[in-house]
Amino acid sequence: MYRVLSLLLTVPVCLTNAQVPGFGGCPKVQAQATLDVQKYLGDWFEILAFPFLLESGKCSRATYSLKQDGHIQVYNRGVQKDGKQFSAVGDAFAPNASEPAKLLVKFSNSSPYANYWVVDTDYDTYTLIFSCEPLTGLAHVNFAWILARNRTLDASVVQSLEGKLANFGVDTSKFRATDQSGCP
Ligand SMILES: *[C@@H]1O[C@H](CO)[C@@H](O)[C@H](O)[C@H]1NC(C)=O
Ligand SMILES: *[C@@H]1O[C@H](CO)[C@@H](O)[C@H](O)[C@H]1NC(C)=O
Repeated sequence: MYRVLSLLLTVPVCLTNAQVPGFGGCPKVQAQATLDVQKYLGDWFEILAFPFLLESGKCSRATYSLKQDGHIQVYNRGVQKDGKQFSAVGDAFAPNASEPAKLLVKFSNSSPYANYWVVDTDYDTYTLIFSCEPLTGLAHVNFAWILARNRTLDASVVQSLEGKLANFGVDTSKFRATDQSGCP
């Protein structure tokens, strides 16, 4: 479970009933065939996400930059429900050069890497990210995010990305809009 928690942000709370595991194995979601890391770097704002905390914060955003070892530095930050700002620095890389959009990411040395699959991005406007962790052979827990270069994203783009994910068998009703108003 911690593996999944480590994916998102910092708040080290227990997984509550915010995220109900699904039955069976992970849905067969396809990542993009390619990923141009240079074009993917920079700032992204969270538009929609599957919640894993009952009380989610706001203003979540990420900045991706290239490290000297070729990995990607992931700098996440936002505002907690109580108004405090939080941040977390993670490390991401693609372990298999033949599958460049299937990244792994982790936010602390003591936590294992979790999946971060780029399902669809146009680099300039949006990115759709999917992550699934099998819990046992019988269950899985999955997460998805839609991030955008702006704090807002056209509803038509959101709808088409949701449709894409739904076509892979993912329950997109779990998406919740991230509040990007009144941000620092
Ligand atoms: C790397 O990805 C290719 C293409 O999907 C796959 O055939 C191969 O088994 C993968 N290699 C490893 C070590 O997982
Ligand atoms: C961001 O929004 C502004 C205005 O709301 C628009 O002019 C600009 O093209 C948008 N940028 C992107 C990358 O969508």
